[in-house]
Amino acid sequence: MANNKNTLTAEEKIRLLNGKDFWHTDDLNGKLPFITMSDGPVGLRTERTGEDGKNYTLPAVAYPSIEVLANSWNRALAKEMGECLADDARDRGVELLLAPGVNIKREPRNGRSFEYFSEDPVLAGEMAKAYVEGVQGQGIGVCLKHFCCNNLEYDRLHQTSDVDERTLREIYYRPFEIVCEAKPVSVMCSYNRINGEYGSEYKKGFDFLRDECGFDGAIVSDWGAVRDRTAAAKAGLDIEMPHGEAGMKKLADDLAAGNITQSEIDACAERVLQLVQRLKEMGKGKENKRSEEERVASARRIAAEGIVLLKNEGVLPLAPGAKLAVSGIYAKPDRTDYLSGGGSARVEWKAFTADLPAALSARGYGVSYEPAFGTQVIHSFWQDARTALLAAARADAAVVCVGTGGGVEFEEGDRETLRLPDVQERAILETARQNPNTVVVVFAGAAVDMSFWEDKVAAIIYAGFPGMGGMDALADILSGKVNPSGKLSMTFPLDEEDAPAARAPRTAGVTRYQEGLDVGYRYFDSHDVPVLYPFGFGLSYSEFFYRDLRLLTEGDTLFAEYVVENVSERDGCEISEVYVGECAPLVYRPRKELKGFSKDFIAAGKAVTVRVPLDTRAFAHWSTARDRWEVTDGIYEIGIGASVEDIRLTAKVCIQDGKVYIE
Ligand code: BGC
Repeated sequence: MANNKNTLTAEEKIRLLNGKDFWHTDDLNGKLPFITMSDGPVGLRTERTGEDGKNYTLPAVAYPSIEVLANSWNRALAKEMGECLADDARDRGVELLLAPGVNIKREPRNGRSFEYFSEDPVLAGEMAKAYVEGVQGQGIGVCLKHFCCNNLEYDRLHQTSDVDERTLREIYYRPFEIVCEAKPVSVMCSYNRINGEYGSEYKKGFDFLRDECGFDGAIVSDWGAVRDRTAAAKAGLDIEMPHGEAGMKKLADDLAAGNITQSEIDACAERVLQLVQRLKEMGKGKENKRSEEERVASARRIAAEGIVLLKNEGVLPLAPGAKLAVSGIYAKPDRTDYLSGGGSARVEWKAFTADLPAALSARGYGVSYEPAFGTQVIHSFWQDARTALLAAARADAAVVCVGTGGGVEFEEGDRETLRLPDVQERAILETARQNPNTVVVVFAGAAVDMSFWEDKVAAIIYAGFPGMGGMDALADILSGKVNPSGKLSMTFPLDEEDAPAARAPRTAGVTRYQEGLDVGYRYFDSHDVPVLYPFGFGLSYSEFFYRDLRLLTEGDTLFAEYVVENVSERDGCEISEVYVGECAPLVYRPRKELKGFSKDFIAAGKAVTVRVPLDTRAFAHWSTARDRWEVTDGIYEIGIGASVEDIRLTAKVCIQDGKVYIE
């Protein structure tokens, strides 16, 4: 098909550089095959036009949000979710999935945080890489997004992310670089500008992808992100989406005027042809790996591993047969958007399965339920709320379900605050006054400020947006059938203003990334700023003991090898985190940075030996003097932690002239 390029007219080549409509590449009136694209990252969002001419979103399997997936720290599960989505896509005739988003969670209030993996580039990159391997391994292409520095929704079409080169390389480019190892077939540009350049015209970044990361796919615009089609094509943006006549006219006029050459247009057209050909070939002979029922089961398993237990003063798991007072509309919402973020990543659930009271009753508990309160308001006047409190007073334990939802966390807007609405905070505090065994379950897409009530309750579970299998997964955790094993992929600060990014000046059109490398835990940890729950934190019903750290080399790679022992009577999974920090560095470096991780199942009373590789990049920084990655001679500390604040084992290595000496 690539040879077709020579048989296409100049006008046809220009048409190829533009979508046919909202979701397809142009087939040049049947001369070429076309490809069908669709959102989204956690469930298909395909549309159908009804008899009334309106567009309707077709129901699909709704997986947990990307944030919940990231909280699982389980690469195999990320791959499984990718495979499931590929099967869903195939069922709908979709060949290109507009996902995953790997932007860094720089500002906890970002309205799209629920769509992104982490504040850490290694965790984001590694989990997304596994997801991409899953999708593409099953014959469907991905479109990695949004390249790059799309870290806030505020004025997203205009603002410029003002960020220095080292920070770009070490933090914001890095997840894209890692995912490129999985050979994504396409990348979507961002809406915002990067150091003044529109995402669609960001030649420097596109060259980085193509020349340094080995990216050999097509670059697609975010929907409506193209300003100047000629400038975008010259920068290397191949497909403008969705269809728009203005862009094509601009290209034709500029070609005639000599502002763009035929070979520049050919280069883009060639990549579009290659994308179509590649996707057709990838999909050939591929069959679904899982039935739809099995995919729903995967969604539930991912939720079960991504839900994070943040606090437990002994009330969990709930005693068998206990009398429970469940409250809050999130336990049994009448709309699924209480349990998911809004915008292009929103999924129309295939089946309505959000009923925590029923899931708990089915597990043998005596359950009373009162909606009592919703997102902003007390439900059905105060009587309901009082009934909920009386039920709490009578019960063995109270389960208060609070959260945000698509009305609060969505594309095109940021959260005003990390605090929950006043009515929800009051409900928590008043319930806790009635029952000392109050468990709070939070349904949200990113960090929540819990500091006003955290110390008043017995247990806290961060359920995130857990998708269709979420309530069953949650009930399994509450009852102890599943041992919680998620850990936070972002810091939960004590105060929303604590993160330097939240305080950085945002003048008209410019967002200054003046905190540099100090994003997320890199700031809190390096500057000893206390947080509510640190990055990488999450509890289990088991207890794990870390021991016997050894460093060994094999070729250029250093391995950290250590033993994690389950010293409890319950089987469980533990996520162990490997951090590296340079001692007395010459250039600024955060105190420690995540460079590897492992999630391991460990049977009660047993131990596993974990081995995590640390390649050169684990020690390197971006040298702005030399414009390249560099490992400084010096001493490095390797810390093995249960969270960034809970380092259990340490060892040091000395690096001299690129050689590693174990201290
Ligand atoms: C979003 C993309 C999405 C696209 C198509 C844009 O508004 O930023 O993430 O894939 O719409 O729905």
